[in-house]
Amino acid sequence: MMQEVAENIWIEERPLKFHGLPFGTRMTVVKLTDGSLFVHSPVALTTKLKTEIHKLGDVAHIISPNKLHHLYMGEWQTAYPAAKIYASPGLRKKRRDLKFSDDLTDTPDPAWADDLDQLIFGGSFVMKEVVFFHRASRTLLIADLMEYFCSDTPFLLRQLTRLAGMYGRPIMPPDWRMTFWRRKTARTALARMLSWHPEQIILAHGKMIESEGEETLRRSFSWLTS
Ligand SMILES: [Fe+2]
Repeated sequence: MMQEVAENIWIEERPLKFHGLPFGTRMTVVKLTDGSLFVHSPVALTTKLKTEIHKLGDVAHIISPNKLHHLYMGEWQTAYPAAKIYASPGLRKKRRDLKFSDDLTDTPDPAWADDLDQLIFGGSFVMKEVVFFHRASRTLLIADLMEYFCSDTPFLLRQLTRLAGMYGRPIMPPDWRMTFWRRKTARTALARMLSWHPEQIILAHGKMIESEGEETLRRSFSWLTS
């Protein structure tokens, strides 16, 4: 069952293995003011999920916020041919099979600008991520910029994240952290995210942050600012 985490925001959590490890993944669906649906990091589309989505509204926008969360965009495009799909930086090159409607930039598309703010978190030479902020609920939507593994994480992943210094705190994986050579660019994006004063943070892997988002964000990115 999809879970309502704020007014007009739902998540769907799924098991997902990455390099054999049970990372799990999370999709977010936002109902926009015009009643249409904005789908962030789509997961595999089952019949049950389709029924739930149908009750919420019409799928209008399908988003992969970075070049990793694109796996199910094709099947969503087939199921919802009237919806637009959007390319995050680098995704067009990776998914030449998909027909993208538009590119995600540093400013929100007019279609969702009434509800969501947006920026590109750059500064890494391997990947940029597009971050969204739902103003009404002060919810930040991110995918891989932070992962949060704690006591409810499966045993093996818990041990590995402990070794990587990631256990018990929301933080970016160290291998990605090391690629942020243009730190000023990343710091500018972080400052803008903090200026939104997020309360809740939905992330794709691990536990989501339900409150004190701004302070959590500040602590999580101390590696960038110190
Ligand atoms: Fe991810």
